Amino acid sequence: MQSTACRADDADVMSGLVATAAVRPAPGSARATRPRAPSSIVPGRRAFRALGAGLAAFLAAFLAAAAPVAAGGLDVVLGQAIFERMWVAGGASTRSADGLGPLYNARSCSGCHAGAGPSRVALEADGTLSGPGLVVRLSTEAGAPDPVYGRQIQPRAVPGQTAEARVTVREVPGAPGDPGPRVEIDLDAFAYGPLASDTRAGLRLGPDLAGRAALDRIDEAAILARADPQDRDGDGISGRPQWLAGPDGTVRLGRLGWRASHADLADQVASAFANDLGLSTPMRPDPAGDCTAAQADCRDARHGDRDGLTETEVTAEMLGLLTAYLQSLDRPKPSKRAERLARAEAAGTPRAAGDVTALSGEAALAEGQALFAASGCSACHVPAMPAAGGGTVAAFTDLLLHDMGADLADPAVEGVAMPSEWRTAPLVGLSSGVPGSRRYLHDGRAASVDEAIRWHGGEAERARKAYEALTPDERSALMAYLGDL
Ligand code: HEC
Ligand code: HEC
Repeated sequence: MQSTACRADDADVMSGLVATAAVRPAPGSARATRPRAPSSIVPGRRAFRALGAGLAAFLAAFLAAAAPVAAGGLDVVLGQAIFERMWVAGGASTRSADGLGPLYNARSCSGCHAGAGPSRVALEADGTLSGPGLVVRLSTEAGAPDPVYGRQIQPRAVPGQTAEARVTVREVPGAPGDPGPRVEIDLDAFAYGPLASDTRAGLRLGPDLAGRAALDRIDEAAILARADPQDRDGDGISGRPQWLAGPDGTVRLGRLGWRASHADLADQVASAFANDLGLSTPMRPDPAGDCTAAQADCRDARHGDRDGLTETEVTAEMLGLLTAYLQSLDRPKPSKRAERLARAEAAGTPRAAGDVTALSGEAALAEGQALFAASGCSACHVPAMPAAGGGTVAAFTDLLLHDMGADLADPAVEGVAMPSEWRTAPLVGLSSGVPGSRRYLHDGRAASVDEAIRWHGGEAERARKAYEALTPDERSALMAYLGDL
């Protein structure tokens, strides 16, 4: 009975959708970077049906109110809607929006990655840093989750459930010689007793998602070929792959996350649903997310796929749409320089006043690019890596773990990474984010790109010193280049 009703709703919503898609003016009004509307919406329509009535209605509203049909077509728009979806607790009437929590960090992906960008962090007057995108990761010395609290602290819970703890993050003055303040985590109001005595907590900042889907495409052999754990070439830079052991005993190369602790995008997204939102996926089918066996109330809570329903709270179809959206963020951001030139050209004045700025900007960018290589940055932040199946991926990372020195060490270990080892952070999208709220490095301690570079130690010490030796003009050229990525 219920499912008949769903189908009927679905059909209504879909006919509305067809109309919406058909009347949407595509070319011309769409931005230059957005391809035309899809000529057929049939694949999207099938995907749409798979979502069920509650979510379908939400998506129809989203389509009516929001963006024109964007790059990649309807799947991308629907994927964006899922990314922005505010999930609600299990047991609510709209079945396909069920299942948040019981414990969670935020109610949507965009709660932490607003606009798919980097997490926004506010520095409050009392020195605390606030923002849901600062997440507390837990691990024992051996890399196992805390036996009670799991992989992550969830400071929020659905009604009737108890949040795990209160998290306070604050800036504390750095040691003499530090480039800036450090950050400290304060955990209190523990609801399930103390952390295990050997559990360590580490902070992780939500990164920008531009270009991240492309990391899956980097050729594995090319990544491994750059690893030099014994530093045989004597350049001071070793780098080693993150090997992740799966539950079935297979070992996979890690690519995503600050410590490359996820093998691919699907793995990362499933883990975000489980740990950040408390939603099940085909890869992580436990609807209680990061609730451990020791958290009995939480395991007994209502969730979205009980009572004989066979699908997980987030279905394979929804994941497919979400992936399409994340892949649509894949294209390298058009260079500001290229935009400037295009604007000048469109105005019919390619050789007029606007061009002077463009040229001087271009010269700075070229110099910045040369300095990036000469300072040794590109040894880790490789501008372009070979893609499996041809082409390159311009993400400015080698995807290897590097020892970044004791000052960046963090005790919550993952996979084979030691406390001071981090995946080379992709620099693509470095210029994005809301001014004043963008932070850098795994724990968000750096308030500027300059500060982030000055924290580089360990294998990157030589590059940091080269950076510090630049003249102010050279430094601003390098910054212009980094700001254009
Ligand atoms: C509570 C905040 C929060 C929420 C909600 C959240 N994320 Fe994240 N995201 C993070 C943090 C923190 C990291 C870094 C994790 C790490 O390094 O272990 C991250 C990492 C990622 C990465 C890897 C980026 C990289 O550089 O390798 C992707 C992709 C991603 N998130 C996608 C998503 C998607 C999709 C959702 C929704 C299903 C989501 N996130 C929900 C905080 C969040
Ligand atoms: C030995 C490898 C290595 C070298 C050399 C290196 N980096 Fe990095 N870089 C990293 C790693 C690893 C991180 C992440 C560290 C962390 O989060 O604790 C990082 C982070 C960054 C970040 C912050 C990114 C973000 O999203 O928070 C910037 C900016 C950066 N590097 C720029 C540079 C520049 C410019 C140079 C050259 C002067 C350079 N790096 C040299 C490995 C390197």
